[in-house]
Amino acid sequence: MSACTDGPAFGKTKETARIVIIGAGASGIAAATRLLEQGFKNVQLFEAEDRIGGRINTVPFADSFVDLGAQWCHGEEGNVVYEKVKDLDVLDRTGDFAGYFVRSNKEILSDDQAKALMEFKDNFEMKPDWEGSVGDAITESYWKEVGQQLVPNDRSVAKEALDSLKRHICSEDACDHVFELSPRSYLNFATSGGDQNLSWRRKGYWKFLSLLLNANEDQPGDQGDLKGHVQLNKRIAEINWSGDGELTLRCWNGQIVSADHVICTVSLGVLKKKHQKLFVPALPAAKVRSIEGLGLGTVNKFLLEFEEQPMPENMRGVAFLWLEEDLKELRGGKFFWLESISTVHRVDRQPRLLEGWIIGAHARYMETLSEERVLEGLQWLFRKFLKFSVPHPKSFLRSQWHSNPNFRGSYSFYPTYADELRTGRTDLGSPLVHVSGRPRVQFAGEASSRNHFSTVHGATESGWREADRLNEFYKGRAEN
Ligand SMILES: Cc1cc2nc3c(=O)[nH]c(=O)nc-3n(C[C@H](O)[C@H](O)[C@H](O)COP(=O)(O)OP(=O)(O)OC[C@H]3O[C@@H](n4cnc5c(N)ncnc54)[C@H](O)[C@@H]3O)c2cc1C
Ligand SMILES: *[C@@H]1O[C@H](CO)[C@@H](O)[C@H](O)[C@H]1NC(C)=O
Ligand SMILES: *[C@@H]1O[C@H](CO)[C@@H](O)[C@H](O)[C@H]1NC(C)=O
Repeated sequence: MSACTDGPAFGKTKETARIVIIGAGASGIAAATRLLEQGFKNVQLFEAEDRIGGRINTVPFADSFVDLGAQWCHGEEGNVVYEKVKDLDVLDRTGDFAGYFVRSNKEILSDDQAKALMEFKDNFEMKPDWEGSVGDAITESYWKEVGQQLVPNDRSVAKEALDSLKRHICSEDACDHVFELSPRSYLNFATSGGDQNLSWRRKGYWKFLSLLLNANEDQPGDQGDLKGHVQLNKRIAEINWSGDGELTLRCWNGQIVSADHVICTVSLGVLKKKHQKLFVPALPAAKVRSIEGLGLGTVNKFLLEFEEQPMPENMRGVAFLWLEEDLKELRGGKFFWLESISTVHRVDRQPRLLEGWIIGAHARYMETLSEERVLEGLQWLFRKFLKFSVPHPKSFLRSQWHSNPNFRGSYSFYPTYADELRTGRTDLGSPLVHVSGRPRVQFAGEASSRNHFSTVHGATESGWREADRLNEFYKGRAEN
């Protein structure tokens, strides 16, 4: 009898309910398109940027497109992104990384050594009862399982390789260092079986959004079915959810918007920085704990276009191993930030490109440098490590996810601090509801995904989850 307990004041139906979605990334787009499918009519998205897509940002580069944000579909089984496209022949399998580990004296680890390292990383399993961080666990099993055997006579190479593996883990999990990473990052994440890095050929990750939207696959930003429902350059500055009736939102430019339901999809970084001002009244303590406890790390990319590929034919990519004395020298100079570059590799179906990754505090520092200074650093790094020469690129791009106030980072992770606070994704994703059960403010976005966080498939599922929550509520009402 929800219609009765909710009082006569709430006489809305699917046709009349005003739903505002804050943010037009994967989760906002997933929520909006599903709500329209379910028969809701008044669905509006407010997006702070001048484009839709959020952390999916496919841009023209070199011969086609590249992704400054999400790039691969991670896995096949139980992955809603894969599910959506599996019959369309739009993904390439990229297989194993098969990279080279290169030392700062230009030595390359043997194939056997590289294989042992990659196998160790791929097979590493978190013990459910582990006390401590992922860093503690990985360090312990590394020295037990692979470290000594790897290079029996030279502990320093083994140590350098461990540092490189740690950087690799940070680039996957978006932590600053592995000792802040909680075992729940592994235990709570449901890895989708199958190829872990399926690539979108030349279309970029926009291809997936274009399918959700019925939009032009060659025109990132085309709003497709959401035309007329999206307002760009509209940052929401305040959500007034006091009382138990309609909600009032204020845009940065003073515009006031009324709504019956709000689905907030802004990144965890935006919530961390803004929740105190964004929500009137303040959010409940459990919600605040989840916002403060969970982490949003920084991972950035470099993209370099050359006249022709500088990497030798047989090389797909390299990981960097710093000799102790070189690291010491590096840290004393202006290129100290290069320490946190994890890998540089080729790009699927764009044969003239190289792509690099940088993590954590040094990634944030890199964002403050001019493109020229960043390139200067990269070229110094290439000269230091590589036997072949890498010319000045024809064009260059890098991402700056942390300094953008609409993101404030790349993707979320479970810090050990969240364990300390006994909080997690469920608290973040739970809605603020009226006593009758009517959802008033709902939360979606990758960080709210219980088992697919930090991915596009997790973000998409979270948008659908919240659309379905509203649909369920109105279904209940119709039956009364
Ligand atoms: C470098 C990088 C690489 C990645 N690689 C992969 C990958 O290979 N595979 C994968 O699956 N995932 C990857 N991810 C993660 C993936 O991109 C995200 O998990 C997903 O896109 C997040 O979607 P979302 O809807 O939760 O958030 P977002 O995309 O951040 O959407 C939220 C939207 O809200 C807007 N917004 C913020 N504040 C306001 C406000 N106050 N008012 C109005 N609008 C606001 C933002 O502009 C944004 O558009 C990567 C991410 C990064 C950064
Ligand atoms: C696959 O994806 C992960 C996570 O995004 C990334 O760290 C890794 O470098 C990718 N591998 C390849 C071969 O590109
Ligand atoms: C929020 O809304 C309530 C009720 O509609 C109103 O009384 C209050 O003044 C509003 N607060 C702000 C800060 O606008």
